Amino acid sequence: MNLFEVYPLFKINPTKAKGCYIYDHDGRKYLDLYGGHAVISIGHRHPNYIRNIKNQLNKIGFYSNYIINDLQEKVAKKIKSFSKCEDYELFMCNSGAEANENSLQIASFHTKKSRIIAFKNSFHGRSNAALSSTDYEKIKSELNKQINVTFLKFNDYKSLEKEMAKNDVSAIIFESIQGVGGLDEPETNFVKLMSELCKKYNTCLIADEVQSGFGRTGDFFAFEKHKIKPDIIPVAKGMGNGFPVGGVLINKKIKSKYGMLGTTFGGNHLACSATISVLDTLKQENLLNNAKEIGIYFKKKMNEISKIKKIKGRGLMLGLEFDFDTSKLRKDLIFKHFIFTGGSSKKNILRILPPLNVKKKHIDVLYNALNTELK
Ligand SMILES: Cc1ncc(COP(=O)(O)O)c(C=O)c1O
Repeated sequence: MNLFEVYPLFKINPTKAKGCYIYDHDGRKYLDLYGGHAVISIGHRHPNYIRNIKNQLNKIGFYSNYIINDLQEKVAKKIKSFSKCEDYELFMCNSGAEANENSLQIASFHTKKSRIIAFKNSFHGRSNAALSSTDYEKIKSELNKQINVTFLKFNDYKSLEKEMAKNDVSAIIFESIQGVGGLDEPETNFVKLMSELCKKYNTCLIADEVQSGFGRTGDFFAFEKHKIKPDIIPVAKGMGNGFPVGGVLINKKIKSKYGMLGTTFGGNHLACSATISVLDTLKQENLLNNAKEIGIYFKKKMNEISKIKKIKGRGLMLGLEFDFDTSKLRKDLIFKHFIFTGGSSKKNILRILPPLNVKKKHIDVLYNALNTELK
C-alpha cells in the first residue's frame, strides 16, 4: 500500500535525535531549529521525559475517561501554578486542532450563538470548525464553508465593533502571535477591545496558544503581554514534547455538563506523564528565561545581516523576513548546512522554532550559514 501523499517531503529519514539535534540513517547530524513545528520544547529525548514515560508505561499506559485518572489532576495543578491561570478548568485532548474544535464547541454551547470571528492569515488546525476559522482557502473543502466565520484584519477596530454589535458572535478566536501565518501580532489596545466587547456581548474570547503556549515566547502564554484574561485557552504542541497531547483551559464562569465534550484517548496516562515531564523540566531548567535570553541574542545577531528585512516574533517563536521567496534558502540550509528551519504561508518568511533549551552556539551556526548563503 502506498502512502496518501499530502506533503512534498524533504528526502531525510531521521532515525535518532538528542537535544537540539536529529540524526538520519547515515548518521548525518542536523541542527533542529524547527522543533518539528514548535513541538519539541524541552529537547529531543530529554532524560526526564524518557524516565517518566518509561515508568508510566510500566504501570498503566491507557484507560478510558470513564474512570478517574489522577494524573490529569496533577497536570491541571502544575499548569495552574506555572501559568497563574487561577480560575480555569482543564479538558485534555490529543492535538491542536482538537483543542480549537473543542474550544469553539464550548463557546457555542455557552453563548448559544454560532458565528465566529477569526483573523486574516490565521491558522487553527484541520478539524471542521478549526479549519473554517483558518484563513487559507486552498485547504478548505465545501464542508468547512458551512460554518459562519467572519475574517477581520488585526487592529481593524471599526470592523470589530461593527461585527460584534450584531450580537450573534459565539467566539473570537485569535493567535497572540500568528504561527503559520507569519508572526504578525495584534496591538495590545486591539486585544483589550476584543476582551471588552466579548464581555459586553456574551462572546467567548479564545486565545489560541497551541503554538505560542508552554513557554515558547518566553512567557508561559503569549497573551500575558496584553494583560487580558481569555475565556478559553487551547494548548498543544510544546505541551507534550512530541507526545500527541492537547488541552483546553476553560474559565470557571463556563459551566461543564456531562456529555458536553468527550474523548477516548485525550489525557491518557502517557500523555499526562509527557506533559508533567515538560512542565517539570521547564521549571527545573528555567527554560522560559532561556527562551527570552536566546530570543534577544538571536535578534542581535540577525540584525547584523543586511539582507534580513525584518526580525519578527518573541522568545523562540521567531521569523526572518526577506524580500524574496525563502524556499531555496530553506532547502540550502538543510542540504548544505544541515540546519532545519520552518516555512510560512508567507513565502518570504523563514521561521525559527527551536527547542527551548537551544544555546547561543546553535544560533551562531545559523548566523554563519545565513552569512554564507546571503553573500
Ligand atoms: C496556532 C495553531 N493552532 C492550531 C494548530 C493545529 O494543531 P495540530 O496540527 O496539532 O492539529 C496549529 C498547527 O500548526 C497552530 O499553529
